[in-house]
Amino acid sequence: MTRSWAEPWKIKMVEPITMTTRDHRERTIVDAGYNTFLLRSEDVYIDLLTDSGTTAMSDRQWSAMLLGDESYAGATSFYKLVDAVHDVYGYEELIPTHQGRGAEHILSQLLIKPGDVVPGNMYFTTTRYHQEAAGGRFVDVIVDEAHDPESIFPFKGNIDLDKLRAVVEDVGSDRVPYVSFETNVNMAGGQPASMANIKDVHAYCRENGIPVMLDATRALENAYFIQQREKGYAGHSIAEIVREIADHSDGATVSSKKDNLVNIGGFLAVRDPDLAMKARAMLVAFEGLHTYGGMAGRDMEALAEGIREMVANDDHVRARVGQVEYLGHQLIDAGVPVIQPIGGHGVFLDAGRILDHLDQDEFPAQALAAAIYVDSGVRGMERGNVSAGRDPETGENRRPKLELVRLTIPRRVYTQSHMDVVSESVGEVFENRRSVQGLKFSYEPDSLRFFQARFSAV
Ligand code: F0G
Repeated sequence: MTRSWAEPWKIKMVEPITMTTRDHRERTIVDAGYNTFLLRSEDVYIDLLTDSGTTAMSDRQWSAMLLGDESYAGATSFYKLVDAVHDVYGYEELIPTHQGRGAEHILSQLLIKPGDVVPGNMYFTTTRYHQEAAGGRFVDVIVDEAHDPESIFPFKGNIDLDKLRAVVEDVGSDRVPYVSFETNVNMAGGQPASMANIKDVHAYCRENGIPVMLDATRALENAYFIQQREKGYAGHSIAEIVREIADHSDGATVSSKKDNLVNIGGFLAVRDPDLAMKARAMLVAFEGLHTYGGMAGRDMEALAEGIREMVANDDHVRARVGQVEYLGHQLIDAGVPVIQPIGGHGVFLDAGRILDHLDQDEFPAQALAAAIYVDSGVRGMERGNVSAGRDPETGENRRPKLELVRLTIPRRVYTQSHMDVVSESVGEVFENRRSVQGLKFSYEPDSLRFFQARFSAV
């Protein structure tokens, strides 16, 4: 007999959403320049643009917000956050920022000198932006499997140690300010690194005097995959695995808008007290005083509670990733090409294969995201040639191997029926894929172009 398993929560408050007509959506997507970032949320039915800041908070988080201490200096709420980060991740020094990119800005400016090289496991858009803005050059050292949409390797987030060694030997360890190690790599499709790899990279970096800085934004989801897939971890709790991941690093930047279950916030956490003091000096110039950075007292309360809640039991992450896998397997059953294994925070459609009648410079993923929106009001996001930007040397589009549409699942927000609506819509667009036309830029921003770019049909 089948025994079902359901989410470890029930719904206490609802937010009505509206259904729009196809006619309306055909007009709104043209007005939005075929860019789902430029749609208004009121024109969206099921919003899978991002899992960032879109979480439903718990009753405990909402009640914690009333305890927010809004003192300018030394707020109680700050010290609760320091304790939560210390207890869960083990880092001693906390620099609170308004969100992840605030932490990336500070870390990059402090550690990277012009001409330095920053190796990392694939790039994230804002992370690479800040590394380059500080004068660094990002070099991708992720395993080859990560760039292959058809590989089912269980740890596509791993760093390839041979690639890392080659970079360090080529430029010298003194030109490598740190290794940028992202957990559950977003741009690879939400794919984890194994604990063995995290340990090996840390050991290698130690020998060479190079710090390891995690992007621990989705360390929780990474920990879940380690528990499920890596030998020796089945009996470990999620809390233990998250802690062990962090133990193999010198610090981390975190966008708390994901794993940490809040709508805004982030932090830089380090072990080195001198680096922390320098970071605080930058914090007061760019974000706010060192005991609130970019957050209100109530935001820090909700965050401290969210950090503890995410690891309080293993059921939360099981339900979270389980929902993503449910959608992914429905699409696989419908024959839609998706990145496998299914990732932790979303399902990534292989737009390059789905729209193989388009050249990559006609932006298949951008066009597919727009077509899905028109079909059903489901909003996804391009993660391909538009997001990758232009090579600064040649000025050409980077044409990454992964040309994807990301359907990102907010935490604790949508039900299984919402997932059914999504898979049926994507299935239908897939059936009619030959009718989807390519796109060309009508406005192209200089940096992070995917946010504001506008397109028209080719
Ligand atoms: N690192 C990773 C891995 C991220 O996914 C993000 C944000 C950031 C850093 C930046 O953090 O947004 O708080 O400033 N990702 C969002 C997304 C925007 O939709 O994937 P932020």
